Amino acid sequence: MSSGQKTWRVGVAGLGTVGGGLLQFLAERPDFAPAGGRAVVTAVSARSRSRERPVDISALTWFDDPVALASSPDIDIFVELVGGSDGPAKAAVEAALKAGKPVVTANKALIAVHGAALAVLAEEQGAPLLFEAAVMGGTPAVKMLREAMVGDDVKSVAGILNGTCNYILSEMEATGREFADVLAEAQRLGYAEADPTTDVGGFDAAHKVSILAALAFGCAPNFAAAEIEGIDQVTRSDIAMARDLGYRIKLVASADRSADGVLVRVHPSLAPLSHPLAQTGGALNALFIEGQRIGRIFVQGPGAGSGPTAAAVAADIADVMTGAVRPVFQAPATTLVPFTPVDPSRNSGRAFLSFLVKDEPGVIAAVSETLAEAGVSIESFLQKPTETPSEGVPIVMTTHAVAESVLNAALEQIAALPAVLGRPRLLRIARI
Ligand SMILES: NC(=O)c1ccc[n+]([C@@H]2O[C@H](COP(=O)([O-])OP(=O)(O)OC[C@H]3O[C@@H](n4cnc5c(N)ncnc54)[C@H](OP(=O)(O)O)[C@@H]3O)[C@@H](O)[C@H]2O)c1
Repeated sequence: MSSGQKTWRVGVAGLGTVGGGLLQFLAERPDFAPAGGRAVVTAVSARSRSRERPVDISALTWFDDPVALASSPDIDIFVELVGGSDGPAKAAVEAALKAGKPVVTANKALIAVHGAALAVLAEEQGAPLLFEAAVMGGTPAVKMLREAMVGDDVKSVAGILNGTCNYILSEMEATGREFADVLAEAQRLGYAEADPTTDVGGFDAAHKVSILAALAFGCAPNFAAAEIEGIDQVTRSDIAMARDLGYRIKLVASADRSADGVLVRVHPSLAPLSHPLAQTGGALNALFIEGQRIGRIFVQGPGAGSGPTAAAVAADIADVMTGAVRPVFQAPATTLVPFTPVDPSRNSGRAFLSFLVKDEPGVIAAVSETLAEAGVSIESFLQKPTETPSEGVPIVMTTHAVAESVLNAALEQIAALPAVLGRPRLLRIARI
């Protein structure tokens, strides 16, 4: 390395999976100088000073309070890897930006919920606010939409954005076990958090797709408008029956722009077995982007983990070192408005329906007639033999495209039929 290169003093708050990975990366790559400068971690903050870290931090300046680290005059870049939409992460990022410091974060919850206000603050101060690692970990998605696709009009993004859910669904299919069983094992193996709600409830994927929607459509993130359904109600029977009809169940996060506004949703969806999303197994992530002119782009890769995520954080640090300051989203922050959410009653699409019915004649006809009277057209139908018919017989069907309001009304009627046991289940067939 030539002398005279600028040394950027990096302060890192959060030394867990991602923060520890970043320290390790910079320790292994002392020559990391992609933009001609050198990044050196000089100060850190975490909860426990005594906890063992992947590299020796005894020579670094320690801060108990991430906010004090963020506003320290002795750092040039603040890296936030604490997590959480509010609390110390938000306070520290605000403090760094108010002090005019570039901020790099992997915190999707913070950007999805407070991204618009933070972008205004960053741009007022002329400080970059970068978050490549917040979506799909090490697999590029943020820069692709913000920079590479800015010359196109993106119509939609859709993908698998939560590795924990994808792992659980893949394991349920491979082993024929129920959700709770696979989740418990994933927790034991460290693939799922002790409190799995953010992941399995669909909220993490919703944070990520809200960010992608903002980048894709040039609007402010609008997490509150996302429709969210997790995977905790998906059963092994749903998975097996979907497979028999030629589909695999995935947690799909999507954002679509139409004349009515923007529809951001996360829900378990069926993808045809041969589709690239259905082929995305284990903890992998995948994303389709559809542009007016560029057409369809597909990326697939690791969406989490210490190494991949730290690599994305390092790439953002490299970006800061170039001195470039771009709008945080796609356009100047003061011009961004939250997108107009599409009225859910106007949603339409194909559906997968599953019912548990009494084992008696005429039941299937009653269900089919109710659907036909409502104008719901059945595409395929399957009834599987069961060893315990006295407990009900599962039937599933797929429909042609139908308005969700129409379908939901028909399902209410079907639920009231005496021969139908429990509530009918509705899963969407992905529009991909
Ligand atoms: N893990 C991934 O693969 C991944 C992928 C993409 C994005 N992200 C995002 O990256 C961020 C960090 O995730 P992570 O998995 O690295 O989390 P983590 O392993 O739980 O680490 C969190 C770190 O923050 C520290 N911390 C917590 N509260 C603090 C406080 N009040 N003051 C100072 N430090 C505090 C913890 O300190 P102690 O170590 O002392 O407890 C720990 O070092 C999150 O926003 C997450 O969503 C993670």
